[in-house]
Amino acid sequence: MTEPHQNYLWWQEGIIYQIYPRSFQDSNGDGIGDIPGISTRLDYVQSLGVTTIWLSPIFPSPMADFGYDISDYQDVSPLFGSLADFDVLLTEVHSRGMKLILDLVPNHTSSQHPWFLESRSSRDNPKRDWYIWQDGRPDGSPPNNWLSVFGGSGWEWDEPTQQYYYHGFLKEQPDLNWRNPVVQEAMFTAIRFWLDKGVDGFRVDVIWHLIKDNQLRDNPVNPDYEPHMATYDQLVPVYSTDQPEVHDLIRQMRQLVDTYEERLLIGEIYLPVQQLMAYYGVDGNEVHLPFNFQLLLLPWEAPQIATAIAEYERALPVNGWPNWVLGNHDRPRIASRVGTEQARVAALLLLTLRGTPTLYYGDEIGMRDVAIPFDEVQDPQGLNMPEKNLSRDPERTPMQWNSQPNAGFTEGKPWLRLARDFARQNVDQQQADPYSMLALYKRLIDLRQQEPSLKAGDYLPVYSDAQLIAYIRHIKNAPRFLIVLNLSHHPAYFTLTDHALKGIVEVATLPEWEGSFISETISLGGDEGILVRLTT
Ligand code: GLC
Repeated sequence: MTEPHQNYLWWQEGIIYQIYPRSFQDSNGDGIGDIPGISTRLDYVQSLGVTTIWLSPIFPSPMADFGYDISDYQDVSPLFGSLADFDVLLTEVHSRGMKLILDLVPNHTSSQHPWFLESRSSRDNPKRDWYIWQDGRPDGSPPNNWLSVFGGSGWEWDEPTQQYYYHGFLKEQPDLNWRNPVVQEAMFTAIRFWLDKGVDGFRVDVIWHLIKDNQLRDNPVNPDYEPHMATYDQLVPVYSTDQPEVHDLIRQMRQLVDTYEERLLIGEIYLPVQQLMAYYGVDGNEVHLPFNFQLLLLPWEAPQIATAIAEYERALPVNGWPNWVLGNHDRPRIASRVGTEQARVAALLLLTLRGTPTLYYGDEIGMRDVAIPFDEVQDPQGLNMPEKNLSRDPERTPMQWNSQPNAGFTEGKPWLRLARDFARQNVDQQQADPYSMLALYKRLIDLRQQEPSLKAGDYLPVYSDAQLIAYIRHIKNAPRFLIVLNLSHHPAYFTLTDHALKGIVEVATLPEWEGSFISETISLGGDEGILVRLTT
């Protein structure tokens, strides 16, 4: 069994909170959140008990993909503030004992980045080979069948130089050629720039896309494609992503990061569990945390979730630290996916599983996806494939702070409209309500940070069926906890097969449960979950 007083690294003990800078807090009335705004909200973030802030991109960018199209890796977009504002934020975060990680977007730049402007200026430009340029096929069509995640071909024809360039995302986001060592060095320089400033690490954007098949072979057709899926899913991207060579690159990145003290590398990777595990590297020499997105992707059904947890736990390499993500800026919010009541169960799950949890801003107050009228849609993924309903705007709406105009987010016109009910659903209102989602999150986070079993203990599955998941978290010489979650909307019975187990409910989705004595059979209402401190 795991020993309780082993030393854990900050990111193993910690809880990550993702801030989407455009939507957290505006300080200058332009309707777009910014860095000084975030600085004014740090007391709140700290009060949640989270330990690490991950900021989505804050760098100069034409904002074709809202910052994931970077035109300068070593500066801050004027929309978000200045480098000086950033330094203040970093100091303030550190002075609160928290950590700050940035989004690193190494796979592609903006088409307005000086590197690309040079690269496309002529075929013999020294930076031509910084990007992926190819002749068309003899009939003039693109070099291969690769598709863009955001719809259409992944190849864009460049008339002046008579070649195609590859872009896995927008045509405004040309992919860098990571086979070129000079490109690697340029990105490593950017990494050093931020680490030298004292940034605690990076979440690396689409890290599994970084390098492509050197023969640019066609991707095979996806036999499981269905019309409601994104057009990108028509093919299986076996040659455009997850190439064996990517691991060498990540090892290099890790070596660089390891020349600094205790910095963190997280990889954004959407791959099945077995492939995901490879990104921990041999003896943990790649990313510290390959993001585990199963809670975002799986149907919210007890059998699937229970199986996924068990498989993930089994698949982890020795010393591979687990992690769980419940929401991000690319996927519908949890409260909209599973309902507000069930989102409380999801909070209990996220914060009692083994491994570093990542929370998405606003989920702690149960924010829901906001319907954005079609003529207000901003997300290119939504605009490019209107019939598929893939816009990510609904999960990117401004943080709901209070019942003031625009929920206290801005004094201007917000870049995305707010939820209609923000006057009732906001931080201020929930702070005053001991039964709120916010109160539940705070209690769970607090308990997780206090209790060695929850922070680092082993995960022991106890039971699951069509509705329920139950497990124990335990560590040597410390209180153990039993968690029983009803993932369905209907009542369910749970019988402790181990009759010796008894305990007291410490936290529950329905606070009235708290303090109840538990033994033998427990009957849980729909959408209920309990966390029991075991006494025997
Ligand atoms: C990642 C980001 C997403 C972005 C894409 C392209 O998946 O999370 O928001 O659009 O990469 O950079």
